[in-house]
Amino acid sequence: MPDIESLLKETRVFKPHKEFTKQANWNKKQVAEYRKLGAKDPARFWAKMAKQNVSWFTPWKTTLQWKPPFAKWFVGGKLNVSYNCLDRHLEAENAWRRNKAAIIWEGEPGDTRVLTYGELHREVCKFANVLKDQGVKKGDRIALYMPMIPELAIAMLACTRIGAPHNVVFGGFSAQALRDRINDAGAKLVVTADGGYRRGSPHALKPAVDEALKGCDGVETVVMVKRTGEPTNFVEGRDLWWHEVMAGASAKCPPAKLDAEHPLFILYTSGTTGKPKGILHTTGGYLTHVTTTAKAIFDLKDSDTFWCTADIGWITGHSYVIYGILANGATSLMYEGTPTHPGPDRFWDIIERWGVTIFYTAPTAIRTFIRLGDEHPKSHDLSSLRLLGTVGEPINPEAWMWYHRVIGGRRCPIVDTWWQTETGGIMITPLPGAVDTKPGSATLPFPGIQAEVWDEEGQTVTPPNGGFLVLKQPWPGMLRGIWGDPKRYQETYWSQYKNTYFAGDGAHRDPQGYFWIMGRIDDVMNISSHRIGTMEVESALVSHPKVAESAVVGRPDEITGTAIVAFVTPLGGIQADKELGEELRNHVTKQIGAIAKPAEIRFTDALPKTRSGKIMRRLLRDIASGKETVGDTSTLEDYSVLAKLKESEEG
Ligand code: WTA
Repeated sequence: MPDIESLLKETRVFKPHKEFTKQANWNKKQVAEYRKLGAKDPARFWAKMAKQNVSWFTPWKTTLQWKPPFAKWFVGGKLNVSYNCLDRHLEAENAWRRNKAAIIWEGEPGDTRVLTYGELHREVCKFANVLKDQGVKKGDRIALYMPMIPELAIAMLACTRIGAPHNVVFGGFSAQALRDRINDAGAKLVVTADGGYRRGSPHALKPAVDEALKGCDGVETVVMVKRTGEPTNFVEGRDLWWHEVMAGASAKCPPAKLDAEHPLFILYTSGTTGKPKGILHTTGGYLTHVTTTAKAIFDLKDSDTFWCTADIGWITGHSYVIYGILANGATSLMYEGTPTHPGPDRFWDIIERWGVTIFYTAPTAIRTFIRLGDEHPKSHDLSSLRLLGTVGEPINPEAWMWYHRVIGGRRCPIVDTWWQTETGGIMITPLPGAVDTKPGSATLPFPGIQAEVWDEEGQTVTPPNGGFLVLKQPWPGMLRGIWGDPKRYQETYWSQYKNTYFAGDGAHRDPQGYFWIMGRIDDVMNISSHRIGTMEVESALVSHPKVAESAVVGRPDEITGTAIVAFVTPLGGIQADKELGEELRNHVTKQIGAIAKPAEIRFTDALPKTRSGKIMRRLLRDIASGKETVGDTSTLEDYSVLAKLKESEEG
């Protein structure tokens, strides 16, 4: 693993500044105490956090019930997520928050909307009543296919208010991908918008919903927000306008008292097969995890304006645009559009205008900004910032240093946070007032989390060796399963080692025990911090009538981290040319979405396979990244294929 070696040379250490430590929510002493308790008795540590950070209607009886690989947290406890994110900030000594900004929203065209805690509460209650009027009951699934507009936050919170699990589908996914997710989750109502704004123009969403619903019998109702005002198809008897149904809705809706293990949401993520996995999260454990981590890692204070740039269609947006931030009563900034519209300084302009204090983004965005030039951030006053974070992929030390210097003005701690859709919340991370940071390392597990790096036999590896990242104990935000597929849950995460969670990432630890995450070791690619399975792209390609076979691999890319390269064997008699290449790229966009569009398509007569017929991806990866193949090729069925592949023509 050459990446490990290059990172091993990184020796810079940054100590937390005294002034930061002094005011930190978690100071060194507290962190030391929590680490001790978390190591000795993780369940007790989390019980303490659940009491401290979450409001319960009924206390739990059992903190953790662990029947591997199935965990239940806070059994017997009752609570409500929207109550924790809203109502409790309006009561008694917190009542002053009524007129505090909960969500500061900025649309791409520059329009803005600020929802105070009081207003957000009203809107959420109203939409919860709309859902009830439409016959939505506790446990019914609701699909949300929306742009980054406040109504998305309102809809999510309304679902949690009545106990209807939401299934947010990223607005960049195609109609086909949306249909699969609606059907798999068995959603009965869809909330969408006519469209949103991307790169300066309206981008329609509703046509994809209409297309998707041609194959979804379970959906009875579609509620549509008018965002762009562009002409839109409207199906009488099925479609409703958001503003019309909201106009008559009552703003009184008591929060349902839900079991700690009541399903909170399903979120689909790519795996190693063509079919995405519906990751299931539940109520009490998830809320405890995201609320505690947000408070400790982002050092959230009432005076903060927190901006996480992730789209709510991904787990980062769920946990740290909405739930973890609002549960802390903080102000969350939400931006609709692209980072570089109308100019390359849009992000810095937003930070300056709103006085953002905490900024959380992905390494791929940081690398893009580095390329765009320092003059853009430098033309803005970024002095309001006091803490920076990254998530989604390993950050290269150069990008870390740039972030530290140019955006953080050398004064802001950087929290490089490792976690996954499956973990629900942050798992390995610096604590900004207490942990020394090293550029490129996510540092140490959060208190109460037991992470290790193991070899194939389950032995702890010693530096400088790399291995597989595992989690040895259940944690509260842990996925509770894959929707409708317990077998796959067991096989994907719990079959490599006994009673131990297999994360699918490679990692190594340095002599100080710091974790250095190397990225996915399975057939999942990380494209601009988004997970795409190679199999998903392959299935899309072979569904094209001119394709016989395909193999998809990732190759390193300076900006997006990984770029998709597809090796394609066309059917006999089909002309492999640039046009077909373009046709196939568009086909993948249509099947999955633009995020999965291959950067490169290479045509070949045949794919390299082992005698048992397995595609030799390692070879393809080397070829795609222009490396000489030095690995073992003794099992290669047809040696000539390898030579031909190197010459394969680009489509
Ligand atoms: C990668 C996103 C290195 C990792 C929250 C993981 C990271 C996958 C980091 C999960 C980080 C996330 N350093 N790699 N700080 N954070 N990853 O499910 O490969 O979209 O398995 O969750 O992103 O991606 P997901």
